Formats: sequence, C-alpha cells, structure tokens
Amino acid sequence: MPRTLPAHPWAFRLAVATEEDFAVVARLFAALHTFNASLDPRFALAEGWQALLHAHFVRTHNTPGSLWLLAWVDGPDADAAQGEPVGLLLMESHLDSPLFAQRRWAELVALYVDERARGTDLAQQLVKAGTDWAAEHGFDRVQLYVTASNERARAFYTRAGFAPAQEIWRLEVEPQPDVTPPPEPTDHMHPELGHHHLAIDLDRD
Ligand SMILES: CC(C)(COP(=O)(O)OP(=O)(O)OC[C@H]1O[C@@H](n2cnc3c(N)ncnc32)[C@H](O)[C@@H]1OP(=O)(O)O)[C@@H](O)C(=O)NCCC(=O)NCCS
Repeated sequence: MPRTLPAHPWAFRLAVATEEDFAVVARLFAALHTFNASLDPRFALAEGWQALLHAHFVRTHNTPGSLWLLAWVDGPDADAAQGEPVGLLLMESHLDSPLFAQRRWAELVALYVDERARGTDLAQQLVKAGTDWAAEHGFDRVQLYVTASNERARAFYTRAGFAPAQEIWRLEVEPQPDVTPPPEPTDHMHPELGHHHLAIDLDRD
C-alpha cells in the first residue's frame, strides 16, 4: 500500500525503470488505464494484460527505442531504499507505414502521476524528460493519444505546448448478433495479435 508522503515541497527523483521495478510500473500503468476506462469503458484493459505488459517491458526497457521512466519521492522513512513511486512515463519510437514520407515519431505512450502528486510540477518534469529524450534521439516530434473527455490531461498537454494534429471520431453501430468481426485484411499471418501504439506485437520478430 502507498505510504504517506512527506510535506511539500518534494524533490522528485526520475529514474529509468529496471527489471526489478516491473511491479511498480504495472501498478501505475493499471492506475492510468483504470482512470482512462472510467472516462471511456472501451479503453479497459483486457484480462491477462499484466503478462503482455511484462513481456513487452522485459523486451524493450533496455532498448534505445524506448524510455520507461519512474518518478520517486522520498518517504517519511529516510531509510526506505527508493521512496514512494509517484509517476510513470513511457516513450517509444514509432514507425508508420512506408506509404508515408514522414514515418517516424516519438510517441508518448503513457503518462501517469499519482493523485497525491498532481498539481506539482512532476507531470511537467516527466514530459520534459520525454521530450528531451525524443530530441536527443533525433526525433522531430512527439505525438500522443488523449481521451477527448480527459479535460485535465488536455489542459496539461496544452500548457506543455502540445496541440491536436488529428482526431479519432467514433460512431456506435448496432452489430449483427453472433457475428465475429473478421481480422484486419493484412493480419492473416497473425490473426489475433492486433496492434496498438503500445506495440505489444510479441510474435512479430
Ligand atoms: C494528466 C496528468 C499527468 C497531469 O498532471 P497534473 O499534475 O494533474 O497536471 P497539472 O495540475 O499541472 O495541470 C492540469 C491542468 O488541468 C487543470 N485541472 C485540474 N483539475 C481539473 C479538472 N478536474 N478538469 C479540468 N481541468 C483540471 C489544472 O488547473 C491545470 O491547468 P492550469 O495550470 O491551467 O490551472 C495527471 O492529472 C494524471 O496523471 N492524470 C491521470 C492519468 C492521465 O490522464 N494521463 C494522461 C493520459 S493521456
């Protein structure tokens, strides 16, 4: 269970997540997606997400194409080894289809700040670390997805200098009962894997 945080002002420590940090990464990732699903149930995580995230984390956390960053704050117990985890940022290199001339960007895949640390400059520090990472790695832009009704995140990103470049629009349709949608036309080799900006495509190597 999270401990009590010390009195403000806090000194946050940002550190790249190590293999031992996976449980912390998963806890913050779950909190982010529970929040997203509270805004839009279509964004709920699937059963078994933890094993997929774990495999993806193990495979990518040491690669130059991703940045898994945790934020820690010292707990009241000065001897606590790492303190309390209060933030998560995940950046990944993204490559679009070769149909497009400008295929590559840095994607801000996940950003979460513990409720107790909101309204501080932690979110800004995490995003700055992510955008610095992107620039240092030669990217000319950072892109992200944000739920349309996530007013707080939208306000935060706007203040951080982001602006909408494209929107996802949705229309609900009444599905024919007992019909399973067919796989993506190009997905016949791996019919069940799917894809996402969090690139969990484990068998495609
Ligand atoms: C998004 C997030 C990282 C931003 O960090 P934060 O510390 O909350 O950000 P800040 O408090 O600095 O800024 C949020 C802005 O929203 C405003 N705000 C606060 N509560 C709000 C609310 N309920 N609705 C709308 N705006 C709100 C703040 O006033 C601030 O704007 P201002 O500086 O113009 O006053 C954090 O809220 C979070 O982790 N949220 C849950 C997960 C999430 O949404 N992640 C992003 C997914 S894309």
